[in-house]
This record gives sequence, structure tokens and C-alpha cells, in this order.
Amino acid sequence: MRKNMVIAIDGYSSCGKSTLAKALAKKLGFIYIDSGAMYRAITLYFLRNHVDLGNHDAIVDALQHIELNFHSKDYESHITLNGEEVSEEIRLMPVSEAVSPVSAIKEVRQEMVKQQQRMGKSKNIVMDGRDIGTAVFPDAQVKFFMTADPKIRAERRYKEMVAKGDQTITLEEVFENLAHRDYADTTREESPLTRAEDAIILDNTDITEEEQLHFALEKVSPFLPH
Ligand code: DC
Repeated sequence: MRKNMVIAIDGYSSCGKSTLAKALAKKLGFIYIDSGAMYRAITLYFLRNHVDLGNHDAIVDALQHIELNFHSKDYESHITLNGEEVSEEIRLMPVSEAVSPVSAIKEVRQEMVKQQQRMGKSKNIVMDGRDIGTAVFPDAQVKFFMTADPKIRAERRYKEMVAKGDQTITLEEVFENLAHRDYADTTREESPLTRAEDAIILDNTDITEEEQLHFALEKVSPFLPH
């Protein structure tokens, strides 16, 4: 049994995983780690450096030149890529469109999982992603598997992007990107997105953020360290 506490949150793209993860971390005083941001930052590096995804040696070499670090401000997680703050750039469409094939690469996943396990070795954490309850922390004390109606997810994400000032995007493009990533995430060979047997299903199509936090806190409370 692990001494520190890990809450694993997995699920489809734009299901509100990070909203729940941040709210739980804030309430419980845990550290929030956004594993998707790591795959996105790697993707940004690969795009900028024209890394050939078919070239094994180039991938291994590139991974050795990448240093990722998280720093937290008001429970918003920020990520740096070799010292550069890239939190905003990794959310834009070029990265969202290129991240699926990068996150399907075995060497990339092995390196990310190693780093994620290190981050959760001794501290109490909430980590969200696609394989956290299955591959990264199969021994997490509490696991959630989140889902929601795809149309609702696309609308929420679209509104978020417009609010951030993205004028070029359309709702259809966001919907297509989510559908494409869901398909890629669930069908890839390496650690596909799947519900851990012991994960609690949370469908937030018709519930508010407050209701979902309340539901999650009830499930987590029996496991909290005294
Ligand atoms: O959570 P997100 O949408 O920011 O993640 C971006 C992509 O990274 C997503 O399409 C799938 C991949 N990913 C993954 O394969 N494993 C994780 N643990 C987290 C994200």
C-alpha cells in the first residue's frame, strides 16, 4: 500500500478532467499534475524541430533534449519546455491536431510514465490523463473515469477557446478534433484509453461543476490521510 495519496482521473478529451482535478487539489491541498500538458509540450518540441515520427533514433535523441517542468500558480498548472513557458501555445490547434500520433509512440509514453511516477512518489497528488489509473498509478487509492456527451464537450471547449481569444476556430472543427482524438486514444496500441476496473464512472453531461466536486469528494474522503 502506498504511503502518499494518488487520485487518478482519466477519460475522454474535454470532459472536464482538469476542472475536477484542480478543484480537488485545491480543496485537499494536493498537487495537481496535468499529464496531457506533457504530451502536448513534447508535441510542440517535435513540431518546432521537425522530428520525423517514423525515425526511432530521432525520437530517442529528441527526448534526451527535452526538459519539462511544472510550476503552480493559484492551482493553475503551468508547464515549461526547456525553461520556456508554453502553457498557452500547447492548447492551440496546431498542437491539438498533432498530439495523437506523438502520444501513441512507445518511447514517448515510456519516458512520460517514468517522469509521472517520479512526481507521484512521495507527495499527495491529483493527476489527470488517459492512462493514469491503468498504467501510471494502477495502485492509486481513488480512480475516476470521466465521460460526457460529445456535443456538450465540444460546446464547452469551443466556448473556452473563444473566451481565450481564439477567433479563427469553429464549433465543427472542435467537434471533429475531439472525435478524432477519442478514436485515436481508445484504439492505439500503447496504453489505450480504457477504464480501470476499479475506476468510478463520472458522467458530467447533466451536472454542474459543484455537483461533480461534491460527488468526487464523497468518494475520496474515506481514503484521506489523517
Ligand atoms: O488531456 P489533453 O487533451 O490535454 O491531452 C492531450 C493528448 O495527450 C490527448 O489527445 C491524448 C494524450 N494523452 C495521453 O495519451 N495520455 C495521457 N496520460 C494524457 C494525454
